[in-house]
Amino acid sequence: MEFPKLRPRRLRKSEKIRELVRETRITLQDLIYPVFVRHGEGLVEEVPSMPGVYRYSLDRVADAVKEVRDLGIPAVILFGIPEEKDEVGSDTWSDQGIIQRALRVIKKEVPDMYVITDVCFCEYTTHGHCGVLHGGEVHNDLTLENLKKQALSHARSGADMLAPSGMMDGMVKAIREALDGEGFEHIPIMSYSAKYASAFYGPFREAAESAPAFGDRRSYQMDPANRREALKEVLLDVQEGADIVMVKPALAYLDIISMVKEHTLLPVCAYNVSGEYSMIKAAGRLGWIDEKKVMVETLIAIKRAGADMIITYFAKDVAQMIIRGEL
Ligand code: PBG
Repeated sequence: MEFPKLRPRRLRKSEKIRELVRETRITLQDLIYPVFVRHGEGLVEEVPSMPGVYRYSLDRVADAVKEVRDLGIPAVILFGIPEEKDEVGSDTWSDQGIIQRALRVIKKEVPDMYVITDVCFCEYTTHGHCGVLHGGEVHNDLTLENLKKQALSHARSGADMLAPSGMMDGMVKAIREALDGEGFEHIPIMSYSAKYASAFYGPFREAAESAPAFGDRRSYQMDPANRREALKEVLLDVQEGADIVMVKPALAYLDIISMVKEHTLLPVCAYNVSGEYSMIKAAGRLGWIDEKKVMVETLIAIKRAGADMIITYFAKDVAQMIIRGEL
């Protein structure tokens, strides 16, 4: 059959029929909201390069998470800015560390929120790199030892899921073994499996005060030019026992999300990163694009590519649209 009998436009005639044939939808259940927590009191600081995103002090973080919960968003991922940084990032495994304290507050005040923690070192080290420095480089296996301590400490403080983001070789296996050795075999690991060395993380590094003091992260994060290597990383993480694999960033990496989805049986998470957020916010403010429409189109594209869940700074904005019936 062909034109004039075949007319695809019939199924685009009204919103009703478009809704019936729509292949991809954003739901509240797809969303994970990133939350930045820091020491201090009474602080709700807007991140200059990320309008609408705030850093909360410990006494304010529960209210922030309640707001997320009340919008129907099921999960948050926590990032911490410690009071003091040191060479190795020892705040990450301290019982009084910023994440540990935040976990206890959130789990007490908002027990129905699913709390994921980012497991990394860059926010906690004076040099801003994601592990232990040795001869000017991040030492993989020494970093694994500290990752185990951090993971266990998060688990003891009530984390529901751990998300290692440092791109160290063997990090999933090391964390899995550490967790299982202490009776935390029920805690899943969402690995930042294919994490690229991306300039799209710029605004996050301002928010988390985690820019590297020298050099860059290209000796551990992936080269944006590589596609097959992403699959290698993902398959290694599957072997090591990851429960969910992640691709990051999302928007310039839709091909990677799509490939990963086809080649694994694990759920796939995509991280719609800070730079992707800030670009849309900035252009929206200038009146150059329709911010809401571009936001929705972006998230739909990430989901269409294969993401089962999306970490996004837009989560609250989208949730409000869903609640108002605009989506
Ligand atoms: C590492 C981490 C980073 C992001 C999430 N976890 C920064 C980095 O790798 O430099 C970036 C997220 C974003 O840009 O939104 N702890």
